[in-house]
Amino acid sequence: MKEDLVLPAAREAAADTPPEPLLEVSGLVKHFPVKGGFPIKRTVGAVQAVDGLDLTVHAGESFGLVGESGCGKSTTGRLITRLLEPTGGTITYRGRDISHATRKQLAPIRSEIQMIFQDPYSSLNPRQTVGKIISGPMEINGIDPEGGREKRVRELLEIVGLNPEHYNRFPHEFSGGQRQRIGVARALALEPKLIVADEPVSALDVSIQAQVVNLLQKVQKELGIAFLFIAHDLAVVRHFSQRVAVMYLGKIIEVGDRDSIYTRPRHPYTHALLSAVPEVTLTEGEAPRRERIRLAGDVPSPISPPSGCRFRTRCWKAQDRCATEEPPLVRLAGNRDGHLTACHFPEEPTTGARAEDIVLDPALTALEEEQGG
Ligand SMILES: Nc1ncnc2c1ncn2[C@@H]1O[C@H](COP(=O)(O)OP(=O)(O)O)[C@@H](O)[C@H]1O
Ligand code: SF4
Ligand SMILES: [Mg+2]
Repeated sequence: MKEDLVLPAAREAAADTPPEPLLEVSGLVKHFPVKGGFPIKRTVGAVQAVDGLDLTVHAGESFGLVGESGCGKSTTGRLITRLLEPTGGTITYRGRDISHATRKQLAPIRSEIQMIFQDPYSSLNPRQTVGKIISGPMEINGIDPEGGREKRVRELLEIVGLNPEHYNRFPHEFSGGQRQRIGVARALALEPKLIVADEPVSALDVSIQAQVVNLLQKVQKELGIAFLFIAHDLAVVRHFSQRVAVMYLGKIIEVGDRDSIYTRPRHPYTHALLSAVPEVTLTEGEAPRRERIRLAGDVPSPISPPSGCRFRTRCWKAQDRCATEEPPLVRLAGNRDGHLTACHFPEEPTTGARAEDIVLDPALTALEEEQGG
């Protein structure tokens, strides 16, 4: 029944071409209208939350999506899981255009794409037992596993490292990390092919984060589930994702294989993000210590993003051209296949920041001077 989702043409093509991507996003746009005016409210503008995004996730792969708060990561996740309707562009899942699919059309694939949310406190119904929370999706989708749902729930609890005997407990009886494990078990209940994990560890204590990341990694590898792993810094996805995309104000500004992004970043923004990553293992021949680049100023409003390159108001390399011409996301000379960068004046492919590139936030400079550092 599920095989029907693969179009015959795609199945034939699969014989001699590389496997079709699980998920393909092309030119994805989401603009939220801004209302204003009196007495009649009219649309006076739009929050350009996601503005022309391309990405591809293959079966079983972990794809990391990284960027500062407000750059459009959650919106992207909600568009892909179709909790939101896109303004433009296409979302193709297993060869099928689901960009504007109705609830009914989505029903057969609903179970295959699951989401894990950032906040393990608000994402679980406090009045339901753990058993009910995890078996809920099975019930809704009419799935009756062998041996019954309760048995399956107990198995899932075990997979995520919880005591199967805690079947009848309520969310408040668990810690944050345990609650996130319940969220993982719920996502696994329908045997998904793709999990969109939206900052799944950001709300947890640092000491717990690694445990949950390890669990997700185990799930990804052992069950062969593809992940779109959303994070606000590069540290978390470094250990998790084979490919990484960096977002800024609704656009991907750099994407590539993990090693390529971490050892040969070309976009100034990626450099800045990497310089903020606390633990960095340097390979031989690299500078022993990374200089810290601090980004001056705030992220501009997505209602009126800067012309040309959106990063230009915070970029230490910006020139006139950056204001008039939007840099395309392309492969630069010297970069590996699949490593794309959107910048007119890219950095050298190294991880060391040059002294002249370091822009200190005025407030931080003052603070450091005060402290005599
Ligand atoms: N439902 C909504 N209505 C209006 N604006 C929204 C809505 N959801 C998100 N936004 C705006 O879209 C931008 C991107 O938000 P979001 O996708 O949550 O970013 P991130 O997850 O990267 O922090 C932000 O400016 C946010 O305020
Ligand atoms: S295009 Fe210009 S402003 Fe944008 S990142 Fe490159 S140098 Fe900076
Ligand atoms: Mg978010």
